[in-house]
Amino acid sequence: MTSAANDPNADSPPRLNDSPDWLYLLREFDALYRHGSDGGSAPIRSHRKRVRDALSACFAANPEMTPRAPHLKPVTAHLPRALDLGERAAMQGMARALREVRGALTWEYGYAQISKSLARKYAYCEILGPQGPVPSDRLILGFVLFAPDTTYPQHSHMDIEESYISIAGAWSENNAAVYAPGSLIFNRSGDEHRITTGDRDPCLLAYAWTGPADRLRAPGMKLTAPRRAKPAG
Ligand SMILES: [Fe+2]
Repeated sequence: MTSAANDPNADSPPRLNDSPDWLYLLREFDALYRHGSDGGSAPIRSHRKRVRDALSACFAANPEMTPRAPHLKPVTAHLPRALDLGERAAMQGMARALREVRGALTWEYGYAQISKSLARKYAYCEILGPQGPVPSDRLILGFVLFAPDTTYPQHSHMDIEESYISIAGAWSENNAAVYAPGSLIFNRSGDEHRITTGDRDPCLLAYAWTGPADRLRAPGMKLTAPRRAKPAG
């Protein structure tokens, strides 16, 4: 048995394969993007392949983890309920794997400016990407959490393709449909989207972003300025 004092690697961060909770969480993403359906959509098929290929490269590289300081936001008070709902629905494997790392998640807003009400009701955490904790410069994987009855204002992502997979709760994008756990929603670069969530329960979505490395490092998240109503008359 090697003691920590004699181990030359004792001070270096663990690698992905030595971090089973993170590895199994990534395996849940891999299974979804490998075995789920593209619904017959060619752009979604290409996006799913890009996510899979970047994940496969990450598994093969077995990178050193880049741990981040855990951080909570007000909305994370809703996470236990979201995970509970997730474990009862179609995405239970993902919800369980996320539960195992919940104490290590770094929840953030991403926007330079955010309204007081959104600051109480929204936050996201990354699990893979340029900031870590699993490093990748080709892909960002994470989760976004909304409190009940939230409106996430209109925004778009330049040069970034985004897919959401619904884990818990009911939500709508651009008033187009009500999405349940297991649904995949795809936003191409520049697509404007606005999210609303149901009023009874929190909503937890997994997401994947693909795009050029410099854009993934600095996505420049910005909410679209609301159009002012024209003055009457
Ligand atoms: Fe988005």
